[in-house]
Amino acid sequence: MLNKIEETGSSKSTFFELLGGAESGTENIRKLVETFYDVMESDSKAKPIRAMHPADLTSAREKLFMFLTGWTGGPQLYIERYGHPFLRKRHLPFAIDESARDQWMYCMIQAMQQLGYDDKLMTKLAEQLYGVADFMRNH
Ligand code: HEM
Repeated sequence: MLNKIEETGSSKSTFFELLGGAESGTENIRKLVETFYDVMESDSKAKPIRAMHPADLTSAREKLFMFLTGWTGGPQLYIERYGHPFLRKRHLPFAIDESARDQWMYCMIQAMQQLGYDDKLMTKLAEQLYGVADFMRNH
């Protein structure tokens, strides 16, 4: 899970550290997840994946925040609370094809852009998340 990144000349070895580490990492991941779901709720390009989610996104927001905190190398909030995520298995009830995957990535990239992530961080984070999103594909 721990998502090490290689960046020559940088002392920061995880996305969590790059996002502010112990000081502001969780806050920044919270902002990223809130913005991600705000995009999903409001952008018509994400309509099909929005429709897969329940009307109330409170729990989805909280779970993605907890998951991404650990996945980026921060505290394993999701695992501490829920145990092993079995992420692919948990997504099997939803028909996730290339289009759904791309909509998910679209929301995430929009969120990073809205929050003013620098290009290098955005590209690296998007690359890693794309791997996870593609792994969720079941159609
Ligand atoms: C590829 C496109 C994806 C689609 C269409 C999708 C869709 C969904 C849906 C519909 C739920 C259920 C939400 C709820 O019941 O409140 C869910 C849950 C979740 N998703 Fe995704 N997802 C995708 C990719 C991802 C990726 C890439 C990640 C992680 C990086 C992720 C992490 C999670 C987590 C942590 C949960 C909560 C699991 C739980 O119930 O404990 N998803 N997703």
